[in-house]
Formats: sequence, C-alpha cells, structure tokens
Amino acid sequence: MTSTELSTAERIREKYIAHFGDNTDAKDFRLFRSPGRINLIGEHTDYNNGFVLPASVDKAVYFAISPRTDNQVILHAVDLNETYTFQVEDLSKPDQKWAYFQLGIIEQIYKNGLNIGGFQAAFGGDVPQGAGMSSSAALECCLLFALNEVFNLGLDRFSIVKMSQKAENEYVGVQCGIMDQFASGFGKKEAVIRLDCRSLEYEYFPFPMDEYILVLCNTLVEHSLASSEYNTRRLECEKGVSVLQKNHPEIKSLRDATPALIETYKDEMGDVVYRRCKYMTEEIERVQVACDFLTAGDLISFGKKMYETHQGLQHEYEVSCDELDFLVDQTFDDPSVIGARMMGGGFGGCTINLVKKEGVEAFETKMKKAYYDKFQIELPCYRVQITDGTEEIVLNA
Ligand code: GLA
Repeated sequence: MTSTELSTAERIREKYIAHFGDNTDAKDFRLFRSPGRINLIGEHTDYNNGFVLPASVDKAVYFAISPRTDNQVILHAVDLNETYTFQVEDLSKPDQKWAYFQLGIIEQIYKNGLNIGGFQAAFGGDVPQGAGMSSSAALECCLLFALNEVFNLGLDRFSIVKMSQKAENEYVGVQCGIMDQFASGFGKKEAVIRLDCRSLEYEYFPFPMDEYILVLCNTLVEHSLASSEYNTRRLECEKGVSVLQKNHPEIKSLRDATPALIETYKDEMGDVVYRRCKYMTEEIERVQVACDFLTAGDLISFGKKMYETHQGLQHEYEVSCDELDFLVDQTFDDPSVIGARMMGGGFGGCTINLVKKEGVEAFETKMKKAYYDKFQIELPCYRVQITDGTEEIVLNA
C-alpha cells in the first residue's frame, strides 16, 4: 500500500474503534479496501457492449466491519459523521441518500437467494465524490466483498462486480454500465484493463509510468444534467440500434456496427442520433487502436487518441462542459502533455492528463492558475498511481 492508503486505512480503523469500541460485538472487525478508478480511453462504450480501458487507483473506500449477533445493521459514515441504523431485512429508502448504495447491496444479496445477519461498519475514504472516479462503485464493491468474506457467501469476483452494478441500476436508479465496478473489483497494480463489455473477457496491459505521470484535474463542478443526460445517451444509442436493425437484424448493440455503416443510415437516424452513433462506433475502434499503441510502447500516439476521444465527447456525444473543455484546451500548446481528455460520465468531474514527469510541477501550477483566473475555483490536481483492486487489508496493531 502507498503511505496515503495506509494512513486512510488507519483513519477508518480508528474511527471504527471510536464509534463501536465499547460494544461487545466489536472485537473481531476486519478491514477492506476498494479503489476508485480512472479510465484511459473508451468512454460511454460500456453500455454499448464496447471496450473500455480503466484502472484502479490509490484513492479508495475502506470498510471496517464486523458481524453482529442480532439483526441490526449500523452504518457509520466517517466522512459525514452520520450513522444509519436499521434491521437487515428493512430495505426501505432512508433520508440518508448515502445509505442507498449499501441497501442496494443487501437487496442484491437477497435477490440472489443468499442471506446475511446484522453487522456494524464504519466506512469512508479519499475518493473525491462527483469527480468521475466512481466513489459509488468503490463503495458497493467494498461492502459486497466484505459481506462475502464475513458471512461466507461464496461469491466470486465476477458475481461481486455484477451484483454491485445491479445495486446501482436497481436500487440507486442509475443505469450505469459495468466499467466502474469491474475496474474497482479487478484492478491490478501498474496495469490497465482492457475489458470487452460484451463478452466480459479482459486483458491486463502494463502501463509504463517511468517517464509519464497520470494527473487528474478536478473541475469541482458536477452539473445537474449528469444523470438525466446519461440515461438520455443510452436511449439515443438504442434508437440508433433500432434504425440499423431494420435492415441488419443481427445487430444487437453499437458494438456490432462500424462507423461506415453509421454513415449509410445518417439521414434515417437524424442529426443527433447519428452523431451519438458516429462517436460511439469510432470510440469502440479507438480503444483497440490505442491498445496496439500501448503494446508497441508508443505512448505519444496513445495520447493523441485520448485527444480524439475528447473531441468526440465534446462535439458529437455532447457530454462535456465548459470547465472540462477549458482544461483540455490549456494542454494543447504544452509540450509536457501528450494526452488529455474529460473522464467518466461527463458534465463535470475530472480531466485525465498524461504528463511528462519532468514537466508535472509546472503543468499543475499553470493549470491551477489558468482555472482560477477563468472560474475562480482552486483546481485540485491528483497524481494517481495504479493499484490493485478490491481486497482485504491487515494492518499492524
Ligand atoms: C459512468 C458510468 C460508467 C460509464 C462511464 C462513462 O462512470 O458509471 O458505467 O458508462 O460513466 O464511460
């Protein structure tokens, strides 16, 4: 673990002890970690059965947890200093929106015919919320992984990932694809994961970090459009598929189409659906090409693909925003940046930048100043390291 990870894990452990320490059930608690994610390329492709290239990073959610002898669940949100207590079978929606993720996980456990007793947990971490780094997926994967261990549910990693996605879809109500939960669950130190979201086959590619650093620039904005537009994009893609299906019944998703085929049906699709489908089919191909560059050790060409992705997200898929575009624009004439783009669902959150090591200080200084001058917002920059996915951790006493 990195020193930041260690101190965050220790903080959650201390808070658990402070909160539950005098409770007799609290003796044998265990500690689990589930990371947030970045995505190098392949944006919005997951729910179109395409490819993605995410990795899990050194910002994570931690759960300190122990089973109880009764049916009570006590959830203590360390960073909010709030607690929600309920009977394990009571899945009604509470006022505390933050508990939706955990309740969604318990619901999935029941839906899969499994059973758990009461438990108590303190959780928190350092994945910035609303930054497009999937703090919610980390939360879901962490709790389900932990409950699987504590109650011996016998779930494998794939099931944990899929059930976590379903918790988000069904209880939280966000129609996300599988990328975030997969990255959190299957992350591997110093490697990115190319996931085929149609077959769920995946391959690790070592990501060389000796010359370059991955820097996230957090706009600190989260436009309210984010979740409604996300669901709208899904529908627009589905419309595109239904146009294609009239003549090509074998097409099940945009993964089965090509940019050339989209051109053929341009008029029939109409401008908006056409542009969504154009971006999508190009992006699915782009991930493959980018992976070839990665394998060849050609990071410069890889970075160019990141810029192309941003162009597509900005003008064709239209999920960017002024703040993100501004940050990407700032890198155009910066020789130390070889790739930059918005990352995640869009309408706020972070840009991801591939920056030469020796230029990183100057890059951050310049970005912070430019962003402040334009939006009067202090820009957080995170130099992320790629770490392992969800795991149990054992700290020295
Ligand atoms: C969000 C969703 C993911 C994915 C990305 C965009 O993070 O949760 O499933 O669709 O947006 O790539």
